[in-house]
Amino acid sequence: MDWFAWDFDHPAYFTIYADKAADAAREGPALAALLDLPPRSRILDLPCGWGRLHPHLRDRGFEVVGGDLSRLNLVKHRACHPAPLVRLDFRALPFHPSCVDGVFCAFTSWGYFASETENLRQLAEFARVLRPGGVLLLDLVGRSCLQASMTEVDGRWIEFAEDGYQERASWSLDGRRILTERTCQGAFFRHDIWIPTDAEIRAFLGEAGFSIGQTYGGLDGRPWEEAAERWIYRAIKSA
Ligand SMILES: C[S@@+](CC[C@H](N)C(=O)[O-])C[C@H]1O[C@@H](n2cnc3c(N)ncnc32)[C@H](O)[C@@H]1O
Repeated sequence: MDWFAWDFDHPAYFTIYADKAADAAREGPALAALLDLPPRSRILDLPCGWGRLHPHLRDRGFEVVGGDLSRLNLVKHRACHPAPLVRLDFRALPFHPSCVDGVFCAFTSWGYFASETENLRQLAEFARVLRPGGVLLLDLVGRSCLQASMTEVDGRWIEFAEDGYQERASWSLDGRRILTERTCQGAFFRHDIWIPTDAEIRAFLGEAGFSIGQTYGGLDGRPWEEAAERWIYRAIKSA
């Protein structure tokens, strides 16, 4: 089984990412504003997870459909934030071409696949379902900031208070991916995420059919910079 089909579909996911629930109050309004589309725009929240950002997209007047691979996340989304939801895989979206105005892709939800072809396919699918001129907001971790923060912890197990939770993050040997091993609630997890450079992100967006509108280095809309913690791309589907 692919790691992303297992790791995110386990109850421990909600323990590991417990702090992200509180972060939603800050991230949701800011990211929804950076999407910068008018009320009543049709938005796909891909992946929607358990919907922690959903209310903030609705607050801007968007018509939101969520999609995610994880059944468990979709069940929690339905319970916490009722909405139209679809179980899907990024590589083959079950939507018609040009059917939406925006795709909202938050919290480093690109780079999960092992091959560049599949990672490109995810962006190409986002482009396919967007109308020409439609907007993709791609919210990623900044590679350089992550590299700097990893120097102290690379390869070391760190223990947390909750549920026997421990984690160890390390770079892959080729320096392209972050491998994060975790034990929690007696289960073992292993995230394996490609952390692209800015040049790679731009090249992949271009190849998938996007031009880059704005790039941001933070939730407050500050300009992109190499050292920023977040790299946020507002990309426009080419005509
Ligand atoms: C880090 S979470 C982000 C969720 C949400 N955007 C948020 O900010 O809370 C990543 C999500 O991607 C989903 N996911 C992972 N691989 C996927 C795939 N191949 N197709 C669709 N969703 C996927 C996971 O189930 C998980 O809910």
